[in-house]
Amino acid sequence: MPIVSVPLADRAYDVIVQPGILTDAGREIRRWAENRRCAVITDANVARHHAPTLMASLAAAGIDATLHEIPAGEASKSFSCAAGLCEAMADANHDRKSIVIALGGGVVGDLAGFVASLFFRGIPFIQIPTTIVAQVDSSVGGKTGINLKAGKNLVGAFHQPLGVLIDPQTLRTLPPREFHEGFAEVIKHAAIRDSEMLEELASIHPDSPDLSPDLIARNVAIKAAIVAEDEFETLGTRALLNFGHTIGHGIEAAVPYGELLHGEAISLGLRAAVFLSIRHAGLDPAFAGVMDHLLGRFHLPLKLPESIHTEVILSKLSRDKKFDAGQIRFVLLKKAGDAFVSGSVGKEDLLDAIEYLRR
Ligand code: NAD
Ligand code: GLY
Repeated sequence: MPIVSVPLADRAYDVIVQPGILTDAGREIRRWAENRRCAVITDANVARHHAPTLMASLAAAGIDATLHEIPAGEASKSFSCAAGLCEAMADANHDRKSIVIALGGGVVGDLAGFVASLFFRGIPFIQIPTTIVAQVDSSVGGKTGINLKAGKNLVGAFHQPLGVLIDPQTLRTLPPREFHEGFAEVIKHAAIRDSEMLEELASIHPDSPDLSPDLIARNVAIKAAIVAEDEFETLGTRALLNFGHTIGHGIEAAVPYGELLHGEAISLGLRAAVFLSIRHAGLDPAFAGVMDHLLGRFHLPLKLPESIHTEVILSKLSRDKKFDAGQIRFVLLKKAGDAFVSGSVGKEDLLDAIEYLRR
């Protein structure tokens, strides 16, 4: 069973990837959290498919657990939802000895981690991610948080989990669109650090929900290594994870919620970042075809819908935290697997990259 270590001194933890581990989660969790009560936080969709298995497994391991369900969707990453969860946990007599378990996608993980960072001034939490995005990206690294009207993830805390349990079989219940969007982040990790994985991704079945545990673990290992190098995103390394996200976030924010899923917007952002890497970082122009082929295989969009206006995308970009004092810090590729943060991308480049997405 693949185990990825996240080596963060006194906050180090393991990510265990094993098909079927949800049924045995109680035993793993008891190792990490003996004699602790647990508050399981999940959303309505995930609860339907997976909460009974987890709750039965906790009960079988002798762990006393309460279940707290939030509405599915990005709108739940809010102060009011976080406050409601804290109240519900207090009503259920949880205290500083309790542990939060996040069962769900990135929304549940970010919100539950944020609640754990606040409740009784901070209690431990465990991630059980159930989307591809959450399995390879958001459950690892300790970024937790909620959204403001002004933008996504503007309030939060770094709070590393005690451990992460990944059951690839939970992906079987994801709707196809939500399944495929996750590959944008998988491709992003491979593009910045592991060119061989790009070749592997070109050969797996794009519609098979049974993802290889080894592939998930290798993808997680990329994120874990970057987090270990630059936990608090102060050295520039963690910023590499923003590859494809500057223009991707702008596009995501420019459309009404739900029209483009996050991964779909990032697919366009990845194409734009490749275009700019060819212009500014000497990336082989043939790589544009490699990226398009990969994104297309996973049914991710390659073309910017006409209805999304360039000015609107640009106006959303300025809110993005990757603009530092008017300077754009843009992640580019020198070659597949080799990314860096560049200061050479200007506004004209952004306009050209957005135009490229319309062709
Ligand atoms: P999500 O959590 O909204 O899940 C997508 C949809 O799938 C939801 O409707 C959910 O209910 C449903 N779902 C989840 N698992 C399911 C399953 N196994 N079966 C059936 N339905 C299931 O979206 P996401 O893409 O997982 O996460 C996006 C969020 O993650 C965003 O808020 C983003 O900001 C955040 N994020 C955080 C980090 C980080 O480092 N903390 C990194 C990337 C993304
Ligand atoms: N998903 C970006 C990060 O964790 O830094």
